[in-house]
Amino acid sequence: MFTQLPQVVIGAADLCAAFLFMFGLKRMSSPATAPSGIRVAGLGMIAAVLASFLYLFTVDTAAQPHMILNVGLAVAALLIGGIGAWVIGRRVAMTAMPQMVAIYNGMGGGAAGSIAAVELFGGHSQGVTQLVVTLLGGLIGAVSLSGSVVAWAKLDGIVKQPLRVAGQQFANAVVMVVTLGVAGVIVASSLGVEGLLLTTPTWIWIFFACALLFGVLMTLPIGGADMPVVISIYNAFTGLAVGLEGFVLQNPALMIAGMEVGAAGLLLTVIMAKAMNRSIANVLFTNFGAAAKPKAGAIKGSERPTEASDAAIKMRYASSVIIIPGYGLAAAHAQQKLYEFVKLLLAANVSVKFAIHPVAGRMPGQMDVLLAEAGVPYDMIFQLDDINDDFATADVAMVIGANDVVNPAARTDKSSPIFGMPILNADKAKQVYVIKRGQGKGYSGIVNALFYAPNCNMVYGDAQAVLVKMIEAVRGLGAAAA
Ligand code: TAP
Repeated sequence: MFTQLPQVVIGAADLCAAFLFMFGLKRMSSPATAPSGIRVAGLGMIAAVLASFLYLFTVDTAAQPHMILNVGLAVAALLIGGIGAWVIGRRVAMTAMPQMVAIYNGMGGGAAGSIAAVELFGGHSQGVTQLVVTLLGGLIGAVSLSGSVVAWAKLDGIVKQPLRVAGQQFANAVVMVVTLGVAGVIVASSLGVEGLLLTTPTWIWIFFACALLFGVLMTLPIGGADMPVVISIYNAFTGLAVGLEGFVLQNPALMIAGMEVGAAGLLLTVIMAKAMNRSIANVLFTNFGAAAKPKAGAIKGSERPTEASDAAIKMRYASSVIIIPGYGLAAAHAQQKLYEFVKLLLAANVSVKFAIHPVAGRMPGQMDVLLAEAGVPYDMIFQLDDINDDFATADVAMVIGANDVVNPAARTDKSSPIFGMPILNADKAKQVYVIKRGQGKGYSGIVNALFYAPNCNMVYGDAQAVLVKMIEAVRGLGAAAA
């Protein structure tokens, strides 16, 4: 009965999925429409899974009885994956989001690699072209899987130090050449070439082992702080692998979703690298930040601490305040308290704006998401190019848990690792307050000249604890006036 299921239903579901993926992605381009974009893309995924599931019923189960078992396995996989992802997604903390993205991305690569493995071991490829595409998808998928797992371990603090040894890049190149050589042997074996020493399945095992090893070796030497960019690169790899396997299976939903993910991952990588003024090769092949040393004598003076209450009162009587959130805001989970404080300023007729740097935090859009989560209206949030000129006329710039994104060395110090990176012009405001716990460095590991500037005061403490004191101070003013 099921074998009669019209292919048109599957085709329609594929088309629907493709449209929903594209429409969802389009809506993700603005914070205002992003939540609905996620939901739309999620619906697309349901349509794609449904279409793939229906394929199982187009097979003649009398001729291929093992398909009944496959249906059971598919249902079990859907339940485990669906329920697991739902539970993890609800529990994950905002600061652990990059790890989650890394591991999910690895699963995508693993899925593409598994499709390739099924095709290769089953000898399903029709012709050399299809075999080469399958191998390419398998290679990229396997590299993305093992590389993403290492990236996850680094972000989660399980692997703490970048592992670097002499000749590492040469060793990586050798592993890649061997992997490609083994792929060549698999193609040769499919063409009937004899005397290949091992059986084809053994060569396929070696091929996947080498590809997985390459992913690990390529990722281990990269510093943990560069992992968001690395994950974005692997995201592009996974998309490409999925798209290639979609081509092999002639599955339009896989092809479209894969190419979309691949293109989006690539664009994101380029945007991140550009916002840090670094090349992708620099991210992949240098240990950024590890060698950063302050230039001797470059910064004079000392940091000047002030009380949270004094800073709060100054802001309460200012006309305009610009707030620059950074990684520390996410680490302190202080977004709700920040908005509570901002509402007090707004009630006192202070003009308040948020300035967002494209790579503030540890993943793209992290600050926008944090502020949206706290309920900050989108029209108070401005991106770098739209707000940078406003600092010159602002009374106060409040930097909260940010560091590199306001470091003026990016403009002035040619020897700085962040030289050339666009920064937020916090130093141009009349008064700057920096909230951070102590003398901790930012992601780049360099000293920030802003903290020593004559118009800057430091408010030391955990961002959340400082904001609680600031809120109390402003409320105290109101109570005293009453
Ligand atoms: P960072 O330069 O990393 O500085 C964060 C600061 O927050 C630290 O100096 C730290 O100082 C402070 N901090 C940490 N926990 C805190 C807490 N609980 N309360 C208060 N302060 C706390 O952050 P940023 O300015 O957001 O810059 C982001 C950096 O990450 C850039 O260099 C960027 O290139 C890099 N990066 C970003 C991305 C993306 S896509 N966002 C990707 C790769 C790399 P204390 O220890 O003294 O508190």
